[in-house]
Amino acid sequence: ATKVTKICCIGAGYVGGPTCAVIAVKCPHIKVTIVDLNAARIAAWNSPDFKLPIYEPGLEQVVREARGRNLFFSTDVDKGIEEADLIFVSVNTPTKKSGVGAGSAADLNYVELATRRIATVANSSKIVVEKSTVPCRTAESMRTILEANSKPNCRFDILSNPEFLAEGTAISDLYNPDRVLIGSLQTPEGKAASDALVSVYANWVPTDRILTVGLWSSELSKLAANAMLAQRISSINALSAICEATGANIDEVAHAIGYDSRVGPKFLKASVGFGGSCFQKDILNLVYLSESCHLPEVAAYWRQVVEINEYQKRRFSKRVVDTLFNTITGKRIAVLGFAFKADTGDTRESAAITLIKDFQSERALVNVYDPQVEHSQIWADLQEASPLIPLDSIKKQVTICNSALEACKDAEAVVIATEWKEFLEIDWEAVYQNMNKPAFVFDGRLLVDADKLRKIGFKVTTIGRAEVA
Ligand code: NAD
Ligand code: UDX
Repeated sequence: ATKVTKICCIGAGYVGGPTCAVIAVKCPHIKVTIVDLNAARIAAWNSPDFKLPIYEPGLEQVVREARGRNLFFSTDVDKGIEEADLIFVSVNTPTKKSGVGAGSAADLNYVELATRRIATVANSSKIVVEKSTVPCRTAESMRTILEANSKPNCRFDILSNPEFLAEGTAISDLYNPDRVLIGSLQTPEGKAASDALVSVYANWVPTDRILTVGLWSSELSKLAANAMLAQRISSINALSAICEATGANIDEVAHAIGYDSRVGPKFLKASVGFGGSCFQKDILNLVYLSESCHLPEVAAYWRQVVEINEYQKRRFSKRVVDTLFNTITGKRIAVLGFAFKADTGDTRESAAITLIKDFQSERALVNVYDPQVEHSQIWADLQEASPLIPLDSIKKQVTICNSALEACKDAEAVVIATEWKEFLEIDWEAVYQNMNKPAFVFDGRLLVDADKLRKIGFKVTTIGRAEVA
């Protein structure tokens, strides 16, 4: 099999950056170059004081160890391609916004452009690895493009190697993955390419955790894994609505269900709704695939996972309005957390964006605080959510604060949107003193001790619990 000595990764984002930085740390004998067209992003990866473009616990240490040794970040995409014997394509694959399949199909433009660049630039044979999450059979299109545009004596072997890391725990997920999945054509050349990639991961991943399968199974497994995970959240969130209506307690129900070893305890935490760049996009991708295969019942089944998630967010903001005596006009609401989950600065599809938009349309005043998200990102997200409202008007309704305490000052209600640990350590007595009365807390993350807050005087509403009189 080819011995991999130089790796190039196209795309220095949430996946390409951490994944290939960890490969560099674990494989000091391999030169790893991560390239991106976005010069600002590359500059941040190269910043002398390690102000990296993404916040991820443990990432800085990894980059400090390998950068300049065998890990490089560059905007010179062509040079990266030319040098490498193995190339990861780790570009974004967002949901299409227009054209055929708008709203559900994946936009493969970035994957195609990167693939065409590889074909144009490569002067020697390459293993090309699909790292991005893509619809089933994308590898086939990549192969056709590469073969139609390659130079003589250049062979391209395509592998699928989807990434399963979760943001916030990316480094530990990469150091100790449940599994690494590698898909290849079941030809001798395909298997040899697969062996070459196996030998990279085998530097730190036990070989029984490296699964080698066919290309299409590998591509579909990624969509399926995210759909199954998101399905558990929508299932528990659907049950949380029943709990609120009946007086059952969603935490107790989840605990009881999860104790069954066939179900397991993870991903059963009721919430204000899942966010992140992957779940919704990948399920919609699966929906589109099902429709393309003339399987409307299958498409409808998976679509419902996304619809329950939308319902959960709507239901939560309605509960806030209902509880605050059916109007929040002119009232100040403190939203704690803006990231889609704790331990990340990523806001893509964050439930907080939907909640704030709902509060804006009720003409409330909103204070936002998040420990990691850049203020400019919050403004960009709120502007994107309400494209017809000028940013100046948004800024009259929304204030970004620098601490939870500041956000809660003079508010009628506190809404917990992200499960940041620091919200557990807030001085709730002080928060209570500074709020208008009655002071409400809405816990969208089952984070705080509701009874403790009630003792202070708060009126507390929790996902999956009936109102307490
Ligand atoms: P991202 O937007 O953070 O990063 C993608 C990067 O690719 C951007 O910096 C962009 O500038 C660059 N890029 C796009 N086209 C390029 C080109 N032609 N040449 C060079 N650079 C180019 O996206 P991400 O979150 O890292 O996701 C990448 C892929 O991984 C997606 O398909 C996603 O579905 C998948 N994925 C993401 C996660 C996650 O947690 N974010 C987890 C698993 C899989
Ligand atoms: C997900 C997958 O977990 C990962 O394997 C894949 O590679 C990328 O997509 P990510 O989106 O980064 O990872 O985070 P994840 O931990 O899955 O959380 C997604 C959303 O679901 C977050 O908004 C989170 O708060 C929410 N969630 C998660 C719940 O509401 N309840 C849970 O029990 C778990």
